[in-house]
Amino acid sequence: MKYLFREGKGSNGLTFLLLHGTGGNEEDLLPIAALIDSEANILSVRGNVLENGMPRFFRRVAEGVFDEEDLIFRTKELYSFVKEKADEYGFDAQKVVAIGYSNGANIAASLLFHYENALKGAILYHAMVPLKGLTLPDLSNSSIFIGAGKQDPLIPAAETEELITLLQGSHANVTSFWQEGGHQLTRDEVEESKRWFIQTFK
Ligand code: MLT
Repeated sequence: MKYLFREGKGSNGLTFLLLHGTGGNEEDLLPIAALIDSEANILSVRGNVLENGMPRFFRRVAEGVFDEEDLIFRTKELYSFVKEKADEYGFDAQKVVAIGYSNGANIAASLLFHYENALKGAILYHAMVPLKGLTLPDLSNSSIFIGAGKQDPLIPAAETEELITLLQGSHANVTSFWQEGGHQLTRDEVEESKRWFIQTFK
């Protein structure tokens, strides 16, 4: 997988796992990570599935309709990749906080749905329910921020509510932030996620 790693100067040992949206790359979320905590380590990954030349983290059949087999396979691949990079660079795999937008938020949610200690925290901007009908692991060690748009044409509010309910049902500590806008990432949302991050991890 293509990626970049930057060692931070922070003393809290946190590592941001950056996961871009469809058509993005490993550079996209660097300014957001810098705004939220400029001292965290950064592991930023480029999705290794291409859809008409656009990088993604797993295949989809149509917009919002996922190739579930591929999603499960790529989730496991990403989970192993993070562990491998933790060994290689010497960061703590138990202190990873994902920051994902759209397709990247969906695979971050899938990590949470599949693995108990994959993520200490997650900032999910415009995420969907990645898979239906799963029994989630115990997420009592994970804190999650969900940013959503009330007018998001890709993600009905009911789906975001379902995601929140599923994560809370598995004992995750979930904070949600709703704004009037659509699927785009907004400054307000990023600022709010920064406030949440400082309260939760600093
Ligand atoms: C997805 O495929 O993950 C969602 O449809 C969001 C997107 O990437 O457009």
